This record gives sequence, structure tokens and C-alpha cells, in this order.
Amino acid sequence: MAKMAASMIESGEDAFRKIFKFYKRRNPPPDFSDVIDFTKAIPCEKIVPAKLDTTAVSDVEAARVGLQPVRDWKAFGLQGYPGFIFISNPFLRGSQRFWVRQCLKTYPQKPNICNLDMHMSPSDTQDIWGNSVHGLSMSPRKREPKTLLERLRWVTLGYHYNWDTKTYSASNYTPFPADLHLLSVHLAAACGFPGFISEAGILNYYRSDSSLGIHVDESELDHTQPLLSLSFGQSAIFLLGGTCRQDPPTAMYMNSGDVMVMSGQSRLLYHAVPRILPPPQGPTALETEGCGLASSMQDGAVVELVSEEDWTLCSRYIQSSRVNVTVRQVLRQGQSFPEAPSSLQRTDADQATGYHEEAADRDSGKRKRSNSDSADTVQT
Ligand code: OGA
Ligand code: MN
Repeated sequence: MAKMAASMIESGEDAFRKIFKFYKRRNPPPDFSDVIDFTKAIPCEKIVPAKLDTTAVSDVEAARVGLQPVRDWKAFGLQGYPGFIFISNPFLRGSQRFWVRQCLKTYPQKPNICNLDMHMSPSDTQDIWGNSVHGLSMSPRKREPKTLLERLRWVTLGYHYNWDTKTYSASNYTPFPADLHLLSVHLAAACGFPGFISEAGILNYYRSDSSLGIHVDESELDHTQPLLSLSFGQSAIFLLGGTCRQDPPTAMYMNSGDVMVMSGQSRLLYHAVPRILPPPQGPTALETEGCGLASSMQDGAVVELVSEEDWTLCSRYIQSSRVNVTVRQVLRQGQSFPEAPSSLQRTDADQATGYHEEAADRDSGKRKRSNSDSADTVQT
């Protein structure tokens, strides 16, 4: 990065934007030689081993959610980014399948909210998976119309993020999925954050030409808790910047199964995903890792075997797509949302209208997320 950043950036300009555009460019494709690859990472000046709490999660608890024993995780920190932790795929072989199935089949279901709800009735978005099974199993892939699953761009969990006001609110809450909460609790505990509460989740669904604009996740009221990010499917380039746009970001690969933790001083840094990488030639790592869960299945397991039928569809989708899940604690323990001034308080009737009025906008969103189908946005 240093070479390229130094030669490209003049002082005072938006260095992040410049590097974002550099990695987004298709023609000619950029030079990826500055992108950090944690799968090949050897500790050096820039990459340092991250200290984990190996006693915070027992091997049995880890295995129940599909994680390797914490002592086997390959976790790194980056010089200059205190609180940032990159865990290179800590999942047990075969267990990513379960989490991918949850992201594609389970979490888009009601009561969770997705982009399709912004212009479709609840009954039409009731069964996104069921409605897509037939279409997705057909070839060639370039058929019209696109299945609902292919049109899915985001899902919100727990306190549902309001893309217009960039806020969460007490009244827009549905129970956070227990399985994802347990996974998050263990990840956070191993990173030194016992007592993490998963209160809000955002799932982003990326096609090969999608990107996620430069943003900071600052809508949560408590920033002392980490933001957890899990990636599945296609690899991507992730840019981690500083507290202002002039700080040139560091580029790194994010592969399926990788977990990123933004905490401490890195909790409020600019970041973005300028590019999804093309699938490798031949089967992806996720396809070849099989479903060897049987031996690690425990009493009380959260991770279940995924049926061949479900996996066929998941693997077809994930071959050219990426899913990212971020889990956030919104409130400090015991904290509640500040009360809105009475002038801003809406009646139920207002809310119902507001919802419909805002629908179109919300689908295009605030947080710049571009792809060829729609300019969905995702910016907190
Ligand atoms: C987010 C986010 C990054 C990613 O949802 O806030 O930054 O890797 N996602 O998709
Ligand atoms: Mn983010």
C-alpha cells in the first residue's frame, strides 16, 4: 500500500476515496500486490499476532457453534490499528455450511426485515427461499426475472437499522437470532469482551459487481463493545482507514469464514469494500471442505447438518456472491434509548404512513453500496 498510496496521494485530499476507486477499477484491473493476505501472514512490522483469551470459551462451547478451539485460531492485529483483530477462518471444517444456510434461508425470514420489504408486501417476502428454489436450480443462470434471493441486498436483525435516520429505536425491535448471538458471544469473549450482547445485525448480500461505500459505523450508542464482522462466500477486498478520509486505508483480503473485530480505537474507523473478487477456477474452498460435522457434533450443538438439497442451492448462490454479517451491541448494559422530543414523536398512524412514504428511499438507502442492479446503500 505504501508505494501506491505515497505516489497517488497528495496531502489534504480524500485518500480513502482515491484508494477505493483504485481497487474498484475494472479496466485495467488494479495491482493487488499491496493487499494483505492473512492466510499467508507471517508476523512482521505491520502484522502482529493478536492476543486472545484462550480460556474464555471452552472447546466444547466453541464446537457447538462450529468454531475451532480458540488456541488454534490464527488471529492478527495490524500495526497502527489498536483494537482491530483479524481471525483467519476460525470455523471447524464443514460448519460454514450451516451459517451460510442461516444467512440465505433463515435470517431473511420474518420477523427480520429486508430490502425487498421496502416495496413488497409481507406476504410476498414471506418465503424468499421457497420462492427462489426453482429459479435458482435452473440453468443457464442468466434467466429473467431474477429470483427473490438474487434480489436480496440486506437483512436487519434485532434493533432494525433505519437507513434514513441512521438510528436504531426501541420500537423497531424483534428478537435477535439465538444461534448467531451465541456465536457472537464466543467470538467477542475470546477477543477480550465478555458479556457482549448481540442487539443488532446487518447482513449484506453482494454480487460480483457490488461494493460497499466508505463509512463509519457510529449509530450504536455504545462504542465500548466491538463490532463483529463475518464473511462467507466470495472473497473481497476490505479497506480499513483512519478517523478521517485523508488517512490512506490498508487493503486486505477477506475470505469465506474470516472474522473481523473492530474494537477500541478501531471501532470508529472508516472502512469500505471496493471489490468482490471473482470465484477461483474450479471448486471453491467452501465446496471442497465438505460437511464433516458428524464427528464434532456435540450435545447442545447449535450448528446442524445442512441437507444436500439446501446445500445445493446455497453453494450455487455463494459461488458468485458474498454474504457479510455484522453484529453490534447497540446499548451499554442497562442503557435505554433517549426519549425522542415530543415534537418528533409519532403516533402509530403517522408511523404507518411514514413507513410507506419512505419505502422507496430506504431501498436506495443512505450508505453507498453500488452494484449494477440497484444502487443500494448501506451507510451508518
Ligand atoms: C457493514 C460493513 C463490511 C463487509 O455492514 O457495516 O462494513 O465486509 N460490512 O461487508
Ligand atoms: Mn461497516
